[in-house]
Amino acid sequence: MQITTTINETKELIKKWKKDGKSIGLVPTMGFLHEGHASLIQKCREENDIVVVSDFVNPTQFGPNEDLEAYPRDFERDSQLCERIGADLIFCPSSEEMYHDPHAFVSIDLLSETLCGKTRPIHFKGVCTVVSKLFNIVTPNRAYFGQKDAQLALQRLMVLDLNFDIEIIGCPIIREEDGLAKSSRNTYLNTQERSAALCLSRAVRTGQQIIQTGMDAEQVLAAMRAVIE
Ligand code: PAF
Repeated sequence: MQITTTINETKELIKKWKKDGKSIGLVPTMGFLHEGHASLIQKCREENDIVVVSDFVNPTQFGPNEDLEAYPRDFERDSQLCERIGADLIFCPSSEEMYHDPHAFVSIDLLSETLCGKTRPIHFKGVCTVVSKLFNIVTPNRAYFGQKDAQLALQRLMVLDLNFDIEIIGCPIIREEDGLAKSSRNTYLNTQERSAALCLSRAVRTGQQIIQTGMDAEQVLAAMRAVIE
């Protein structure tokens, strides 16, 4: 497995692989990898000749009072996991390598202003920007995202609107045994918060059960809200 930190050396490797006729899969991550990421890398391994994992805590998707500095990082453990699954390359650039000052943004307003975009106004703009840059650097045939939030829908819309010739593959959320979705940020939770967080998966399960009974969307939402509240 190779590790690159610059855009140029990454592009050189990709150029060589493409010349040899290899298909390329990309798994964009912010590192501190868990079983959710592992399942994406595994699927990417099964479907592509070359597996590229990007490991970059992207500053442009964090708001001014969010957890950019505190975001958990452990590159050693990440690279061991990637090696074990059989990734070919980890691309782990610095912020200076990825962004000039000032730099361009990619923004898909439609979804940025709804769902989680409502409370995190610059978040999806930062995600679209970094993912577009990664798409241009790695030029993958396929890119892999978890179904964890609106990001997947956003990426599908983005490749369509901006004519990226890339297949977006959505993969199921991986959960702890008690239902909590795996997330790098779960390490922030104390015991009480962790158990409170379970209301989210309980609400999803409630929604799934109620949909089977034929209730309409408003009723399903009301029942899910009640579980959370
Ligand atoms: O979901 C994430 O981990 C990030 O938003 C992503 C897609 C790697 C972009 O930084």
